[in-house]
Amino acid sequence: MISQNTIQQILSRIDIVEIVGSFIKLKKRGTNYLGLCPFHNEKTPSFTVSPTKEIYKCFGCGRSGNTISFLMEAEKYSYVEALRWLAAKYNVEIEETETSPEVKQQQQVAESLYIINNFAQKFFTNFLLNTEDGRDIGLSYLKQRGFSEDIIRKFQIGFNPDAKDAFSNAAIHSKFSIDLLQKTGLITLRDGNPLDNYRGRIIFPIHNQSGKILGFGARIIKKNDRAPKYINTPENEIYVKSKILYGSYFARQAIDKADECLLVEGYTDVISLHQAGIENVVASGGTSLTPDQLRLIKKYTNNLTIIYDGDNAGIKAALRGLDLALEESLNVKLVLIPDKEDPDSYVNKVGPKSFSEFISTHKKDIILFQLEIALKDVGNDSTKKSEIVNQIAETISKINKAEDFTKQQDYIKQCSEMLQISESGLYSLVNKFIREKLNKEISRIENKNEIDIRKAEDIPPTTRNDWSNEAFSVLFQDELQEKAIAGILLKYGDRPWNTSKLVSQHIFDELTEDPNIFFDDFKNTVYDIFDNKQIANVFTTYKHWIDTGKVPSINDFTYSQDSDLVSLVIETTNHPYELSPRWFEDEQKSKIINRIQRLSYEDFMNEILDNPESGENVYYHEFDESYKNEVEIVLVYLKLKKIKRLILKNEDELKTSDKINELLLIKQTHLHLKEMQMTLGRSRGIVYYPF
Ligand code: UTP
Ligand code: MN
Repeated sequence: MISQNTIQQILSRIDIVEIVGSFIKLKKRGTNYLGLCPFHNEKTPSFTVSPTKEIYKCFGCGRSGNTISFLMEAEKYSYVEALRWLAAKYNVEIEETETSPEVKQQQQVAESLYIINNFAQKFFTNFLLNTEDGRDIGLSYLKQRGFSEDIIRKFQIGFNPDAKDAFSNAAIHSKFSIDLLQKTGLITLRDGNPLDNYRGRIIFPIHNQSGKILGFGARIIKKNDRAPKYINTPENEIYVKSKILYGSYFARQAIDKADECLLVEGYTDVISLHQAGIENVVASGGTSLTPDQLRLIKKYTNNLTIIYDGDNAGIKAALRGLDLALEESLNVKLVLIPDKEDPDSYVNKVGPKSFSEFISTHKKDIILFQLEIALKDVGNDSTKKSEIVNQIAETISKINKAEDFTKQQDYIKQCSEMLQISESGLYSLVNKFIREKLNKEISRIENKNEIDIRKAEDIPPTTRNDWSNEAFSVLFQDELQEKAIAGILLKYGDRPWNTSKLVSQHIFDELTEDPNIFFDDFKNTVYDIFDNKQIANVFTTYKHWIDTGKVPSINDFTYSQDSDLVSLVIETTNHPYELSPRWFEDEQKSKIINRIQRLSYEDFMNEILDNPESGENVYYHEFDESYKNEVEIVLVYLKLKKIKRLILKNEDELKTSDKINELLLIKQTHLHLKEMQMTLGRSRGIVYYPF
């Protein structure tokens, strides 16, 4: 484990703009930076990086996080890998720490399993290539199947001698523990004696993403009806079948380059295709794709092409993962290899060039293929047919990204033709499934909200910020809320937010930061948010002053000729009754206050510490930082208010729309807004719904 100390050192050096900027082009916009989102396709930039908050957020796809999560997304690093990358970049020496005994125990087991597997692989490969038996039995078998020595070395293939305990002896001689050896599946105990598990078998090591060996597939050579063709490593600390894609270590770069992942069933299919120069290929081991495997593929590409033997039971298994793939927005195609061949035998038969041609000309769309199969055994059975119609409509409804709308339309058109039903009928059926799913999702989110609110109520009052409750209760009524917000701008607008900007500037930045909630234009934003247009005036006037280089004081407003504005300012700030006498009685004091209000809290404290006799510490209480909390609350309130409006508008549209593309958009927007509402609510540590 990397020590906290090291992590702190790394974190303190991170410059998010520099790191993110080395992946995408960023342009400065206000205090933030803007660029094209690396995580989804877009033409107008909505990917925002905030150097002050050290976070990024994409207002298009909603992804957000810090520098580390950025590296994890962009480079597919694990948390620790991202830290190590940053440490190398910033020349931070990594210090490792002690971990908890249980974690340590598990890490040790995992580490030992890797070491044993590594030892075993070397033993098996050495036996295959450098012993008489290995070459006569194992290597000749592989050569006769067409595998070159180069490819055998690359995939680290080996052979386990056909003897009782050749490997066991070597392993025990090297002092590996029998317990661990059993865990790897390499040996068993028979009558208390170690026995090799993979006797007389070709050994295919299975690598993880970084090339470490997780386990093995061991193929029989001799014909034997009683023994299984392959024996695979049992599940253990490192071999988790549902997360493994055979060949991914060798394929990752090619998949990236081709922007396509070919999926085959077997070890030999992967290896033969590699040998033929087709390297963007992985194997699932013949079972249906798991969510973890799909996610692994999606890290590299959105295009998945499944290549299976024509008449194979495995197709059904592969189709089972289909809905999930569609939901993940993967484009899934299927190619069936003819003549009872599999990809391995077929590429050996026709050669690399014809094989590639065959693949690119025989890709079938998987939804249409599924329908084709289903239609084959329908005949005139109308119940069966309506079942299929429902099934296909539900499948099509799983395409749930608004970007994929055209795709969805195409499916509806093509499937209705194949089914010989009306396009509009299928359309409404798909629509029905989308609506159902949408309602489910919304109620799920709403339930989650309720739970969060209840949780928030359970928080004992002492852990909450007491005055914030008070502020909230004032904020409850719209009219009062708006006035409170204006008051906060007027009272605290000229105080420091941080070392580089004032509170007012911070408020203005926040109001134009998120294009999803607020308009790009400041004026439009405030006139949209505030029902009381006078208050909107205060905001735009204040901003105008700031933009022209002047920081307005409350008096700048109270000297206005607009008497309505004056009374509003006085009302919102209680200006003449509370502040004025204190501020202006004592000119000296007001000068000091004015000055220290422009210092950051830290600078101010330093000044007092440097010069304890200055007398300014008397006014320390004037400078407590609680106004910042107030500002934050106000901003959260403004955003929540705007979001709530959008949600209501959205709900109206949802009720009236009967177009799938609109539904999808509304739905995405809706979920996005709800999520934002929750995040904002949570960001205060309390969940608050003024509506
Ligand atoms: P296949 O039977 O198609 O084998 O199983 P294959 O990969 O083409 O091997 P060769 O060409 O006959 O040598 C496909 C995959 O299913 C898994 C393996 O991952 C295999 O590669 N499988 C198959 C097993 O795990 N156990 C078995 O007994 C059979
Ligand atoms: Mn085969």
